Amino acid sequence: MNAFQGWDAASYGDSRAGVYDRQVAGRNDVPEAVGLLAELAGAGPALELGVGTGRLAIPLAEKGVAVHGLDSSPKMLAELDRAPGGNRVTGVLGSMTDFALDRSFPLVWVAFNSLFLVDDPAEQEACFRTVAGHLAEGGRFVVEAFVPAPEQFDGPAALRVKDFGAASLLLQVSRHDAQTQVVESLDLEVTEAGFALYPTRVRYSWPQELDAMAERAGLRLEDRWENWSRRPFTADSRSHLSVYTAADAATASGRAR
Ligand SMILES: C[S@@+](CC[C@H](N)C(=O)[O-])C[C@H]1O[C@@H](n2cnc3c(N)ncnc32)[C@H](O)[C@@H]1O
Repeated sequence: MNAFQGWDAASYGDSRAGVYDRQVAGRNDVPEAVGLLAELAGAGPALELGVGTGRLAIPLAEKGVAVHGLDSSPKMLAELDRAPGGNRVTGVLGSMTDFALDRSFPLVWVAFNSLFLVDDPAEQEACFRTVAGHLAEGGRFVVEAFVPAPEQFDGPAALRVKDFGAASLLLQVSRHDAQTQVVESLDLEVTEAGFALYPTRVRYSWPQELDAMAERAGLRLEDRWENWSRRPFTADSRSHLSVYTAADAATASGRAR
């Protein structure tokens, strides 16, 4: 059985669009994220890759920054349109690996591990190249991603309980290919109304791999923190917020601090 046959760039978003906001309701990083993004965006415009339902893009737009939101899932973009304040964000259908917008941006960002939904390292690198071509002078590309902990996927596919309440249960099964760094997982949500399946396929990359991709795309790492609050990045950090800028834009250094 191959549960991921036919998986493409729209699959993640199209399968979750209607439930996405409920699934991420527990995340409490929006104020810090939007504060930092607003600082980096300056007068804008800003571009989010994998905008989803606008969790970050809408509050940034509400601060007065012109925001474009690219997504490969038509259903996610429909949710963005429907969301309160969603009309403040210019939705664009396309893949973050290969898009062409007729403007440049002081800020492009990709949040919440969305870069890893591009499940091929060459395509992730293509994303860096495409972004580099859309950065305004001194512009920045911010990547938020997890630091891989492959040991958590070791062993045969295992079922784990992600969450449960009196009327719902969320189970996840995943398999890890250590060679390709691809993790396929399937969430099974059981409620009184029935059950639903939510597949995810990610190709995780180590921070150093991302830096090398960026470098080959003409970008360099300017800053790395653990999270949107600029907590210092250490060997124990399980996430990173990496800020890239054009390799030849030495004068931009220091503006993100
Ligand atoms: C985890 S969600 C993040 C949504 C939003 N940025 C947030 O922080 O809540 C990932 C989003 O990336 C989109 N996506 C996946 N692959 C993509 C690709 N190749 N190009 C553009 N968007 C993609 C999905 O459709 C989904 O909306």
